[in-house]
Amino acid sequence: MHKILTLSFILGLIALASCSGPEKESTPKQNWTPELDQPSELAQIMRDMHEEATNRKISLEQGQLDPTLSETLFDMITAHPTKPHMKGEGYEPYAKSFIGTYNQIHTAKEVSVQIEAHNNMVDACIACHSQFCDGPISRIEKLYVR
Ligand code: HEC
Repeated sequence: MHKILTLSFILGLIALASCSGPEKESTPKQNWTPELDQPSELAQIMRDMHEEATNRKISLEQGQLDPTLSETLFDMITAHPTKPHMKGEGYEPYAKSFIGTYNQIHTAKEVSVQIEAHNNMVDACIACHSQFCDGPISRIEKLYVR
């Protein structure tokens, strides 16, 4: 168990990044420095969610339900982003629909049901990201439990 936690912590650290694209983006955007030391409120919530989802995936792949319930995630509607445009018009409906999907995970009493709910949640992560922050999408896709 300890190993798994350490592993997901490391994965979480690797996952730290911003909306600017992953590897494929070779030319750094001007005036854009990812604030790795001081993530915005929203970026911090995202990092926590990414880590939580990574842990849940590991757990589900081992055939175990994961009861973890994030406490900060519900603040994603009000949390301040790194740049105001990251929460443009239409952000809130995505956030609400995401939270609805997220809640389904915790009503699941069977592993197969939780896997489905988890994958629906990942769909909801990607739906919002494709509108507001497409950089991390390739990393988010890795959260699917196949
Ligand atoms: C309602 C929209 C929305 C949903 C849903 C959403 N995100 Fe995000 N995400 C954002 C925005 C906007 C940012 C940019 C935040 C910032 O830089 O302040 C972000 C940033 C991130 C980042 C980069 C954080 C950093 O270190 O800069 C990761 C990783 C991430 N999201 C993962 C996820 C995962 C995993 C999920 C689902 C469990 C998810 N997101 C759901 C909008 C969303």
